Amino acid sequence: MPRLALSPVAPERADADLLVLPVAAGADGPLAAPVTAAVLERLGADLAAVTGGAGRFTGKLDDVVLVPSYGALAAPAVLLVGVGPDDGRSPETLRRAAAVAVAAAGKAATLAVALHLPGGPPDPPGVALAAVAEGTVLAAYRFQRHKSAPEPALAAVTLLVDGEASLATAGPVLRRAEVAARATLAARDLVNEPASRINPATLAAEAVRLAKAAGLDHQVLTGPALRRGRFGAVLAVGGGSATGPRLVELRYRPPGARRQVALVGKGVTFDTGGIDLKRGAGMEGMKDDMAGAAAILAAVTAAAELELPTAVTAILPLVENMPGASAMRPGDVITARNGITVEVTNTDAEGRLILADGLALAAEARPDAILDLATLTGSVVYGLGLGCTGVFGNTPALTAEVLAAAGRAGELACELPLLEDYRRFLDSEVATLVNATNEPGDSVQAALFLREFVAGVPWAHLDIAGPATAKEARYYQPKGASGWGVRTLLAFLDGPR
Ligand code: BES
Ligand code: MN
Ligand code: ZN
Repeated sequence: MPRLALSPVAPERADADLLVLPVAAGADGPLAAPVTAAVLERLGADLAAVTGGAGRFTGKLDDVVLVPSYGALAAPAVLLVGVGPDDGRSPETLRRAAAVAVAAAGKAATLAVALHLPGGPPDPPGVALAAVAEGTVLAAYRFQRHKSAPEPALAAVTLLVDGEASLATAGPVLRRAEVAARATLAARDLVNEPASRINPATLAAEAVRLAKAAGLDHQVLTGPALRRGRFGAVLAVGGGSATGPRLVELRYRPPGARRQVALVGKGVTFDTGGIDLKRGAGMEGMKDDMAGAAAILAAVTAAAELELPTAVTAILPLVENMPGASAMRPGDVITARNGITVEVTNTDAEGRLILADGLALAAEARPDAILDLATLTGSVVYGLGLGCTGVFGNTPALTAEVLAAAGRAGELACELPLLEDYRRFLDSEVATLVNATNEPGDSVQAALFLREFVAGVPWAHLDIAGPATAKEARYYQPKGASGWGVRTLLAFLDGPR
C-alpha cells in the first residue's frame, strides 16, 4: 500500500511525479479553486486553455486532463481531475475521483494530491480528506503475490492541506482512513489467496497472528475441543477435508465500552459443494467463500487499533467443504451447538450450517447485537445483482443502523424481508429443520434458518455473496476481492452518527 503523508506545502512546491488538482463542474464550465488557478498561471495557462473549451473537460467525475509543467513546478506534470458540481458532492464522489486520479497516474510512483476543493460539500473538511485517502489507497491495490514480474505499485501519496493549522486536525482523520483502508486490503488479500494457501488451519493461524499484533484475546478450537463444545455443524461440514475445521474467537474489550457486539463470519475456505458437488464452471470463484470471516477479522483488528468504543467478539467458523470418505452425506442429521437438529438436504448449503453453530455460541453471551457476514446464497445475487449486499434483521432499529453504516462507508446494501410465510419450508420430516428446500427465494429461507439460532438477540444477517468479489475493475474496486464489509463494520462499531 502507498505511504500516505500530509503536507502543508503549496502545490507548486510539492515534490512528486504528479500533482493532482481537483476541478469542480460549474454551471458555465469547469471551476478552479484559487490555488488551482494560481498553479495554472505559473504554467502560463488558464483553465479554459488547458481544458480545451468546447465542453471536453467540464469538471464532472471521470474528466481528467494531464498538463506538463515544463519546469515551472516541482512536479513534472499536473493532473486536473473532475469532482463534479459542488451540490451533490458526496464522500463517494471523492473516493471515485481519487481512483480516477490513480488510474490516470499510470506508472507515476508518487502523487501529490491537493485537497483544495473549490468549496461546497462534503463538510467538514475531514470527510473530504478521509474519502480521498481511502479512494487512493483502495484504488492502488493490486494482488500480485504470485506474479513472477509484479508491476510497480504506487509508492507514496502526499495529501496537500491548507496550512499548518489544518495539519493538526487532519492527522487523526488521515490515520483513521488509513487504518480502515489497510484493513480492507488485508481482507482482499485473504480472499484473493487461493485455497491451496488459505485453509482452516492457515486462516486460523493468520487470525492468531493479527490478534496478537492488535492485542486481542484469542482462542482457536480444533477437533477435540469442537466435539466437547458440541459444534456438530462445524464438525459435519468440515469432515470431508484433509484440513480439519477450526473455530476462532477473538475478543476486543475497550474500557468503558458502550455496547457489546458479536460478529459471526462464514469462513468456508473452499466450497466444492461437498457430496452435492458443484459443477466445474466457475468453481474457482468459491475460494472467496470465506470473505465474511476475512472482513470480520480485518475489521475487529482495525477496531482495536482505532480504539473504537464498542466491545467486539468475533466468531469465525472455518471449514473446507469437500467431498470425501468422511464427508457429511445428504440425509445426515446433525445436532448444532444449541441442540437443534438439522437434516442435511443439500451438502452445498453448508454456510448456514456452520453459521448456526457460530450464532448459537454468539447468542449465549447475550450481546446487544449480533451481525453475521456470509457469502451465503447464489439467490441473493439473482435478487440484488453483484454489487449489493442483502441485509436481513429481526430488529428494525438494528437493521437501519447497519444500512446507515454501509451508507457512510459507501458500500451498497439493501434490506430484504424475513418472510414468515416461508418458514414452513424449513420443517423437516426427520429432524427439526432442513438446511435447504427446493423452493425459490433461498436467500430468504437461509436467513430464516439462521434466525432459529440467535435466541431472540437483536441480529442482522448480511449476505455478501454478490459484492464480495468484483468481476470487473471499477473506480476503487479492482477486479477480484472487494473487502466488502470492513468499512461498514468499522462505521457500525464507531457507533451511530
Ligand atoms: N457459497 C455458496 C453461495 C454462493 C453462490 C456465493 C454463488 C457466491 C456465488 C453457498 O454455500 C451455496 O452453495 N449455496 C447454494 C445453496 C443451495 C444448495 C440451497 C446456492 O446458492 O446454490
Ligand atoms: Mn455451498
Ligand atoms: Zn458456500
